[in-house]
Amino acid sequence: MNQTEAAGAARLVESPEEIRRVVQAARRTGLRVGFVPTMGALHAGHRSLIEQARHDCDVVVASIFVNPTQFAPHEDLSKYPRPLEADLRLCSGAGADLVFHPSVPAMYPAGMSTVVRVEGLTRGLEGASRPTHFQGVTTVVLKLFSVVPADVAYFGQKDFQQQAVLRKMVADLCLPIEIVVCPTVREPDGLALSSRNVYLSPTERQQALELSAALRRTMTQLEQGVRDIPALQRELRDRLVAAPGVVLDYATLADPQTLEELSSWQPSVVALVAARVGTTRLIDNMVFGRWQ
Ligand code: PAF
Repeated sequence: MNQTEAAGAARLVESPEEIRRVVQAARRTGLRVGFVPTMGALHAGHRSLIEQARHDCDVVVASIFVNPTQFAPHEDLSKYPRPLEADLRLCSGAGADLVFHPSVPAMYPAGMSTVVRVEGLTRGLEGASRPTHFQGVTTVVLKLFSVVPADVAYFGQKDFQQQAVLRKMVADLCLPIEIVVCPTVREPDGLALSSRNVYLSPTERQQALELSAALRRTMTQLEQGVRDIPALQRELRDRLVAAPGVVLDYATLADPQTLEELSSWQPSVVALVAARVGTTRLIDNMVFGRWQ
């Protein structure tokens, strides 16, 4: 028994066949299984997803798999942080029973030629600058759902387009899994937690605060009854374009289901932003009204 196991830690499983067997056996006895897919480099945002699964379910599985197919050639897959020991500690501390940590060949056997692509929703926003990204995400998540046949899977609101794309995939393919989206976890000063925040210098971290501050201002205006969507959108963009150190990619007010940009008022609105701060690309969003 190693040190982690002695501490009553989550059980590490590397084989897809084994994790499927364990999950199927649990469900056969009537236990509800919750699943939190991740790429590791875990922070308090991931912790909140595992804690929610722990609260809702009898058995909690987290996965740690840095999925190569969602990285573009210029995005450095080899530099993606992989602090496995710390990740396992976080999973155990948050209440995971099992951590699935497959190898790349286990998830992508030689000659694999199947991909999963959700049309429409993946075209704009992140999809515009990362054209192959969502195909990588949907392909790996469908495969993870097949290997970890849980009752419910948890994703963060922070990756707003990702959760919309995954919910569409589940609906379109009638997958027998429920999707729960949990709120974005923020630092006390508003910065949305992200595995990429470690790349920010202290100055850049300060500059990055403008993203959440600009979104918060838009939400406040909506809460105060401002209904001129084009003006709100212009103001959000202008504020971010003028922010020192922030290179804006997009800032938009959209429909939370279709992600289509809005030209007029409606009762639910998502404000989405993406920008580069230094060499780090950050995204954030906030929602006004009911959306799920
Ligand atoms: O959000 C992530 O960490 C990843 O995109 C996911 C959903 C685990 C797929 O690799």
